[in-house]
Amino acid sequence: MSTKVICIANQKGGVGKTTTAVSLAHGLSQKGRRVLLIDLDPQGQSATALGRSPEPGVFYLLTMGMTPQETTFVQSWVRFSGREGLYLLPGDQQTMAAQTVLNAQDKPISAIRHSINRFFKDGLHYIIFDTAPSVGGIQERAVWASDLVIVPTATEFLSADGVGKILLMLSILQEKKNWRGNLLGILPTFYDEQTRESKSTIEDLRERFDTSVLSPIHRATLLRECAAQGQTIFEMDPLCRAAKQYQALTQMVLKF
Ligand SMILES: Nc1ncnc2c1ncn2[C@@H]1O[C@H](COP(=O)(O)OP(=O)(O)OP(=O)(O)O)[C@@H](O)[C@H]1O
Ligand SMILES: [Mg+2]
Repeated sequence: MSTKVICIANQKGGVGKTTTAVSLAHGLSQKGRRVLLIDLDPQGQSATALGRSPEPGVFYLLTMGMTPQETTFVQSWVRFSGREGLYLLPGDQQTMAAQTVLNAQDKPISAIRHSINRFFKDGLHYIIFDTAPSVGGIQERAVWASDLVIVPTATEFLSADGVGKILLMLSILQEKKNWRGNLLGILPTFYDEQTRESKSTIEDLRERFDTSVLSPIHRATLLRECAAQGQTIFEMDPLCRAAKQYQALTQMVLKF
């Protein structure tokens, strides 16, 4: 089976990366797909968003070798989320130490791709990476390991500049490091059509990035509550606007 790998990335903090990673992962699993969400952010918030605790699974993924024993050990950190078809490889602060190891050992750009290859034979349809709000060894290698990248961005002033930076990184990886993946799209989040800031930001994004800009996710108090309760938007209220918008994103990903 070919496993599609999707990276959710933006070096800016608080733009909806984790919310998007968790919602998309659950959305895909609700469509009968087997999904592994890998939390590459030391904050460990993918776990809490699914009602679980951060754990050092990702540290081992990034630092252990590839012997059968080590592979079994890394796989033992995969957690069932309690939702059919949805699994999590949790991360925690130790992921920061893995970043240091990656840099110190000067691991190749393909390091994370090689590390996740050990999961493919488990019949996964999707692997989704949630990433930290920074640039560094892990982010670059996570993008390189991915077939598709989604860049969530809050609809606020200057967000287009941040998006420009990450798109630059994607094109450098394509041109200089032979990365074969693609941008799936820029996902405007916290959209509020009542505010001029939201409206002009969307216009600005569309002007600069054209058809790469996806339909926005509106600002929704319920999404904030989801994170606090360890439930996804599809569990909180599957009929609310935010759920429908993440459903639409899921449908789009399924077409790729
Ligand atoms: N569309 C939205 N409307 C309202 N609140 C949202 C929305 N999307 C995310 N949030 C809330 O905003 C906060 C930041 O979102 P999230 O954690 O998904 O961002 P992030 O980019 O992963 O942050 P970080 O960079 O720290 O990892 C969270 O409390 C989340 O519940
Ligand atoms: Mg996050």
